[in-house]
Amino acid sequence: MTLPAASPAGRWARISGWGSYAPKAIITNADLERMVDTSDEWIVTRTGIRERRVAAAHETTASMAAVAGARAIAVAGLEPDDVDLILVATLTPDYWMPSTAALVKEAIGNTRAAAMDVAAACSGFVYAYATAHAYVTAGLARHVLVVGAELLTRFLDYTDRSTCILFGDGAGAVVVSASDEPSGPHGIELTTEPQGAYMIWLPAGGSKSPSSAETVARGEHFIRMEGRETYRFATKTLASSALAAIRRAGLEPGDIDLVVPHQANVRIIEAVAKGLDFPMERIFVNLDRYGNTSAASVPLALAEAVDSGRVKVGDRIVFVAFGAGFTSGAVAMEWSVDPANGARAASVDPDAIRVRLPVDWNSVDPIPPALAAVLAARGPVDVPLDDVVPGEPAHASVPAASVPVPASASPAPAAPSEVPS
Ligand code: ACO
Repeated sequence: MTLPAASPAGRWARISGWGSYAPKAIITNADLERMVDTSDEWIVTRTGIRERRVAAAHETTASMAAVAGARAIAVAGLEPDDVDLILVATLTPDYWMPSTAALVKEAIGNTRAAAMDVAAACSGFVYAYATAHAYVTAGLARHVLVVGAELLTRFLDYTDRSTCILFGDGAGAVVVSASDEPSGPHGIELTTEPQGAYMIWLPAGGSKSPSSAETVARGEHFIRMEGRETYRFATKTLASSALAAIRRAGLEPGDIDLVVPHQANVRIIEAVAKGLDFPMERIFVNLDRYGNTSAASVPLALAEAVDSGRVKVGDRIVFVAFGAGFTSGAVAMEWSVDPANGARAASVDPDAIRVRLPVDWNSVDPIPPALAAVLAARGPVDVPLDDVVPGEPAHASVPAASVPVPASASPAPAAPSEVPS
C-alpha cells in the first residue's frame, strides 16, 4: 500500500512531538529463572533481552498510553485540546469496549478529538502512524496523537518459557501535525500476510471462542506463538518493508542515518542489518532493557533515540515493525523537529494522570500470581520516580517550572477516581 507524502493541495505531515512511559518495576532474567526452566544465558544469547518492565496493579494500557501521549503533546508545544484525532495501537486494550483511545482522550483532558484503537499487533504503531499521516495530508485533521501502548505481562502464560521471557510493558507516542512546508522525503509501506494468522495469537475471548471456565482452564487467554515461523517471517519482512519504504521516499539504504526497528529479538535485527548491508551502529536497540513491548516498542525506542541525541534535524530515519497477522510496516522520513524539545516532557507528571473507572467497579488484582510472587519475594524496586525511562538525557529531568511550555500542556486529571492498587 502506498501513501503519497503530501495531498494534492500540498498539505504535509510531520512528527512534531514524541514521548514515552515505562513502568518502574523490572523483571530480570534471573527473576524468570525462578519461574520457568530457563537461564539468563539462554535468553540473552537467543534474544538479547536482559530485563523488561512490569506495570503496577494500578496501571493499565490506557494509563501508560495517556502519560506517553501527554508527553508527546507537551513536546509538540500543544495543548491537549489541539489534538483532533487520537489513535491507540494496542493488542492489550483495557477492555474490548470502550476503546483504549477513548479512555486516553479523557485522561489527557482532551474534549474534542475523535478517538479509536488500531489493531495490527506489533506493527500497530506503524499502521496508526500511516493512518494519522493520511488524515493530516487529506485535511481531515491538523494534529493527531498516535500512541503505541501494551500491558503484555497480564496476557502471558508463566509456565510457557518460550513466550513469557519475551514481553514487557510500556508506551510510546508521537504527534503528527499538518505543515504547509514540504516535510522532506517520506515513504510508507504496509503489508499483511494472513497465512501467518495463527503463528501468534490469543485463542479465547473473541466471538469464535468466548471466554468460559473451560477456555481459561486450557490457558487460551494467553498469547501463543510459533517462534521459529515468526522468526523467519520477521527477518524477511523487516528487511523488505524497510527497503520498500526507503525506495518510496526516493532514497537508498545508504542515505539512512538511523533505523528504529521493532524491538523483538536482537538476532532478528542483526539479520536484517546484514540483509540490507546496514551497519548495526546505525540501528537503535533498547530491547535489552524493555523486551518486546509490541505496539509500544517502536515509539518507545524512537522517543529514547531522539532524547539520547541519536537523531538530529535533517536526519533520514526509518522505523519498521512486524507482528501478528502477520503484519508489517515501515516508514522512511526526514526528521524536522529540534530534539531539545524533548525536555518539555518533564512538565508531565505521570501521577497526575488518571483513567476514570466505573462507579461499580469491582476488579480483581490484575497481576498474574506467578509474577506477583516474584515481585513480592524481592521487595520494592528502587527506581527513582523521575527516571521512568532509563537513559533519558539530563535535560529530560529539568524541573517543569524551568521548561518553556504552555501551562496547560501538563494535563489535568480528568476525573477524581483512581484504579485500585
Ligand atoms: N529457555 C530455555 N530454553 C528454551 C526457552 C527458554 N526460555 N524457550 C525455548 N527453549 C528451548 C526449546 O524448548 C527448544 O528445546 P528443544 O530443542 O529441546 O526442543 C530450544 O530451546 C530451541 O527452541 P526454539 O524455539 O527453536 O528457539 P529459537 O532459537 O527459535 O528461539 C525465540 C526462540 C527466541 C522465541 C525465537 O524463535 C524468536 O525470537 N522468534 C520470534 C518471536 C518474535 O519476534 N515475536 C514477535 C512478534 S510478537 C507479536 O506480534 C505479539
